[in-house]
Amino acid sequence: MKVEFYGHVRQYKNIQAEIDQNLHEVLLSGNYVQGPMLKRFETEFAEYSKTRYAVGVANGTDAIWLALMALGIGHGDEVITHPNTFFATAEAIWIAGATAVFVDCCPKTKCICPEKIEAAITPKTKAIIPVHLYGQCADMVAIKQIADKHGLKVIEDNAQAIGAKGRKFKIGQLSDAATTSFIIQKNLGTFGDSGALVTNDPAMDVTVRKLRNHGSNARNVHSFGFNSRLDDLHAGVLSAKLKHIDEWNDQRRKWAARYSKGLQDCTTFDLPVELPGYRHVYHLYVIETKKPEWRDVLLKHLNDNGVDAKTHYSIAIHRQAGYPWGKGARIVGTVPNADANAACCVSLPMFPELTREEVDYVIAKVKEWDAQFASQAPAGKGPAQCGALCACCR
Ligand SMILES: Cc1ncc(COP(=O)(O)O)c(C=O)c1O
Repeated sequence: MKVEFYGHVRQYKNIQAEIDQNLHEVLLSGNYVQGPMLKRFETEFAEYSKTRYAVGVANGTDAIWLALMALGIGHGDEVITHPNTFFATAEAIWIAGATAVFVDCCPKTKCICPEKIEAAITPKTKAIIPVHLYGQCADMVAIKQIADKHGLKVIEDNAQAIGAKGRKFKIGQLSDAATTSFIIQKNLGTFGDSGALVTNDPAMDVTVRKLRNHGSNARNVHSFGFNSRLDDLHAGVLSAKLKHIDEWNDQRRKWAARYSKGLQDCTTFDLPVELPGYRHVYHLYVIETKKPEWRDVLLKHLNDNGVDAKTHYSIAIHRQAGYPWGKGARIVGTVPNADANAACCVSLPMFPELTREEVDYVIAKVKEWDAQFASQAPAGKGPAQCGALCACCR
């Protein structure tokens, strides 16, 4: 059997009529850039996010640096995030001209550890970018408290967690903006690239709207800006898919529960953790081997058996060749949880359109591998999950 990592075509076939109808509507409208379909999607996405505004942009990376720029954050400023995220989180800080300051993640969630943030704050610190990694929210209540105490802005990088919820908070509620990516592989993805930010701040909405469109909000009137628009064809795809996102996330959660139940007796790796009161939407289902040297062996076993498992992200940003490429960067203390996550992570196939047979086949192949190494498995949690628990993890 072959089990793919993504199910883009299956998803398209399941709702083809709805997507095709929106694409036809755009094609026949003659409006392809900043037209009615974009407006419609922005309204729908703001309603879904329960925020006052949603602004479509060209991709999730632009959404982050446009938000930073709208807040006036750039050269000479520092922005705190964590190094075990997709590269674009830090890249956006550098594009804005600021210094990226990395602190460790929590051992359970892999999101930024709130207890590591205050030691990283200097007079130059202007913002924190928590990433809702793998589909689970960072502890926004704790992060917001720190931000308010020190007068910092917060931008949530929500590329991976549309539809997730935290304990007593919603994404977009406790920040200046929450950015997202709609690249095809995301929980809500179009056939190509695009992104958006949601915000309750009217100034953020107006400024990013201008910045994305050559600094213009009226014909022939410009100030400094860029071209970072979300095309109407993509908006049409996203509008059709948005109606299904909650049901798709529920299905991801069902597959995650099936993986966790099927693998609960394995001893050679740790399973992903959903914190009580949180809604994890499993953009990725990531297990962590108890020995770093086992990771590639497990990956090869799965790949050799037709299971397209991957790693997210096996080289943390501060370990990339050439880091930091002449850009401003600083690591505060050590980042053992982030380093161990990079060394031990394996992402199993996860998309709503998986079948039960496919999920069970993946479970069987992982268990087959586990049985070979079980006698050498150390007791307790492995290096990626054995770190001291902070308040949000306890
Ligand atoms: C956490 C995170 N941030 C930012 C991005 C950047 O989004 P994009 O690829 O749309 O620029 C991505 C995904 O690609 C991501 O996973």
